[in-house]
Amino acid sequence: MKILFIGDVVGSPGRDMVSEYLPKLKAKYQPHFTIINGENAASGKGITEKIYRQFLESGAQAVTLGNHTWDKKEIFEFIDDAKYMVRPANFPEETPGQGMMFCKQNGMELAIINLQGRTFLSPIDCPFKKADKLIEEAKKRTQFIFVDFHAEATSEKQAMGWYLNGRVSAVVGTHTHVQTADNRILDEGTAYITDVGMTGPYDGILGVNPEAVLKRFITSLPVRFDVVEGRAQLNGVIIDIDNKNGHATSIKRILINDDNPFFD
Ligand SMILES: [Fe+2]
Repeated sequence: MKILFIGDVVGSPGRDMVSEYLPKLKAKYQPHFTIINGENAASGKGITEKIYRQFLESGAQAVTLGNHTWDKKEIFEFIDDAKYMVRPANFPEETPGQGMMFCKQNGMELAIINLQGRTFLSPIDCPFKKADKLIEEAKKRTQFIFVDFHAEATSEKQAMGWYLNGRVSAVVGTHTHVQTADNRILDEGTAYITDVGMTGPYDGILGVNPEAVLKRFITSLPVRFDVVEGRAQLNGVIIDIDNKNGHATSIKRILINDDNPFFD
């Protein structure tokens, strides 16, 4: 099984990169499943129903989210009907939406779990204990389990990778928007990367207009963070999984920008 995962799509520059390159990436890698993190897809914060549907139409089977899940008010109107979208599973029980979903392709079934870290982020339920529960549930149906761990701290992401080592096919980190070069297969067969990176502005600070971020750092005054226009990038990973046992055999980084052009 092959899984293509696209890192945090930021605003219209990120969505345009998905439209332009997803067909090319699918043609090159032939993934069975394509998953997009869309928590920053609407102007950098949150997601709308229109964007969610565009991602599905562009060829994704699933959309994962994170700490910006609730930033666009309309999310509450469609999240319960969005079968192909997962928000962090470790929000309280009564939270709308789902934290795990299943998708099928060519007789194979993949469980997709979204979790959120607690270090330097809002205090929510324990992502480790929630992962235990969801994996137990998922294992009744499939040995293929993919986890998007949306977290700030490298240590917490590595901890999740090792905690789930051998129990899931992949743990990929999202949220910090800079692709890390530590993609590897952990010794029990779990693909791991601390952060997949971001799909959006190339000349910004984590996707945001540098002038605004600099003003904030230098003056400490409140500023509005807008997604910066101009050159864009796409960050992702392609993961190969052994069909016999659900263990990953490779995880490769995908980086497309003006300094790293795409080749067919
Ligand atoms: Fe985030």
